[in-house]
Amino acid sequence: MRPRILGLALAVSLIFSAVWFRASLHAADQTPPPPPPGAPGSPPPGARGPRPPRDPVRMAAMRDSVMNELLEKIKGHENEPAESVFKDIRVLKGIPAGRFLRIMNMGFGNSLGVGCNFCHVPGKWEAEDKKHKQIARDMWKMVQTINGDLLAKIEGLDEENRVINCTTCHRGDTTPALTMPTPAPAHGGK
Ligand code: HEC
Ligand code: HEC
Repeated sequence: MRPRILGLALAVSLIFSAVWFRASLHAADQTPPPPPPGAPGSPPPGARGPRPPRDPVRMAAMRDSVMNELLEKIKGHENEPAESVFKDIRVLKGIPAGRFLRIMNMGFGNSLGVGCNFCHVPGKWEAEDKKHKQIARDMWKMVQTINGDLLAKIEGLDEENRVINCTTCHRGDTTPALTMPTPAPAHGGK
């Protein structure tokens, strides 16, 4: 009698462990292990993680719709200076409110390739929740210094081309490039 019970127990436990083993194999199938460091597809050591993919067309549509909502809200006041329409304008003073919102959309959002939420918690436009908002103010001042002071002093430049803006450096990215894309485009080619 005894050996038969033992055999039965052994068989049950074998079945159990087989089921468990298959289940764990299955779980492993669903979550592949990350590639070992240095393997193809793994980020180089010390790299900033891969940037989440951005869809520029969707992002532009989102920015447009938020801008249009706000343009609707300030209807009739588009030509008043931004500081008299909005709550906390520290550097972009004197700019008509309607144009101010277009600068938010195209000058800032489109130039950096970001949505309004890069610098704002949407809806809390006057708040300082995100450090990028103050950085953008400082960048605006830097651009004014370059245009009004530094570029203005360089002799021999064509007058009408003597200007930079956010796009000059950012070109749709939050981090301006330090190296040319390869292969470099031919001089003068665009
Ligand atoms: C790169 C950063 C950046 C992005 C992107 C950006 N903003 Fe701004 N936004 C600012 C800064 C900086 C100010 C404050 C300007 C100042 O102090 O002169 C501001 C102020 C505002 C204000 C005025 C708030 C108030 O009442 O004082 C509104 C409204 C606004 N932004 C809307 C938007 C919208 C809508 C978008 C997207 C279409 C957007 N912003 C994208 C940086 C940004
Ligand atoms: C002369 C070149 C230049 C111009 C013009 C310029 N920027 Fe920048 N900007 C930089 C550099 C360099 C950085 C640092 C990038 C980094 O830290 O990854 C930067 C970073 C930023 C950041 C922070 C991005 C991050 O990921 O932390 C914001 C926001 C920004 N710029 C906004 C602007 C805005 C708005 C304008 C136009 C008013 C502007 N910049 C114009 C060179 C420029």
